[in-house]
Amino acid sequence: MRLKGKIAIVTGGGSGIGKSISMALAKEGAKVVVADVDEKSAKNTATEIRDLQGEALAVRADVTSEEDVKMMLKESIDKYSGIDVIVNNAGIAHMGRFLDFTEADFNRTMNVNVKGMFLCSKYAAAEMLKHGGGKIVNIASVAGKSGFPYETLYCASKWAVIGLTKSMAAELAQFKINVNAVCPGIIETDLLSRLLRKEAELKHTTPDKLQQEFKKLIPLGRLGRPDDIAKMVIFLCSEDADFITGQAYNVDGGERL
Ligand code: NAI
Repeated sequence: MRLKGKIAIVTGGGSGIGKSISMALAKEGAKVVVADVDEKSAKNTATEIRDLQGEALAVRADVTSEEDVKMMLKESIDKYSGIDVIVNNAGIAHMGRFLDFTEADFNRTMNVNVKGMFLCSKYAAAEMLKHGGGKIVNIASVAGKSGFPYETLYCASKWAVIGLTKSMAAELAQFKINVNAVCPGIIETDLLSRLLRKEAELKHTTPDKLQQEFKKLIPLGRLGRPDDIAKMVIFLCSEDADFITGQAYNVDGGERL
């Protein structure tokens, strides 16, 4: 077990990639705070962890709310007495034509994907430095290193995530807090299903055809799975990554999109 006794928060831990990360952290011996705006899904993940003899606490938290984020930290500390790891995974993707996006779409995407990460990292880092350091892992995207049609707002938010990661890493290193990002490619989750449906509509094709086209652009020959991302996150949270900070690693099967 690489994270025995460590206390880890995962935002958006109720489903998809966040759920897989939460389960993997628990398997490595961490006590996991599963935070999600959808309380039911957070509770389900926590129950699954406990069913496997792991340790978990479910917390309802909307990462866009400073009050919720403070409460999430308080509940975690009240229960486990510190924070060693935070995985900022909660995120949304809104696909659409650039000319159709509204100010409200922009604000919503930036609030969840960027402001949420800022708030969670700020309050978690303040705790970590009291106990000699920690690890922050931010879930960005390959969309944070490139530009894609119909994903303007999402791409902009994920570029911001990488900027936030690199700047936090540079400043927080003095407190022994490592900050890195993981950039997933195309990963099979509910979010992907929703995006494929919308993109197929915009491109006048079907989600199945689109998925087959994407597969052809992935040299390793398949779409990603949530546990592909969880494995990289575990590495970055472990002592094996003590000398790594400010990086943004693609986990994408070699994607050439
Ligand atoms: P998902 O939609 O399956 O799960 C996201 C989770 O975050 C849900 O449980 C949702 O309730 C929660 N959430 C949403 N807004 C929240 C908020 N304001 N506060 C707290 N929780 C909130 O999505 P998926 O695919 O698991 O994505 C997770 C992360 O991975 C996101 O940051 C996404 O941008 C990123 N990503 C996903 C890719 C994919 O292909 N699935 C590719 C690249 C990045």
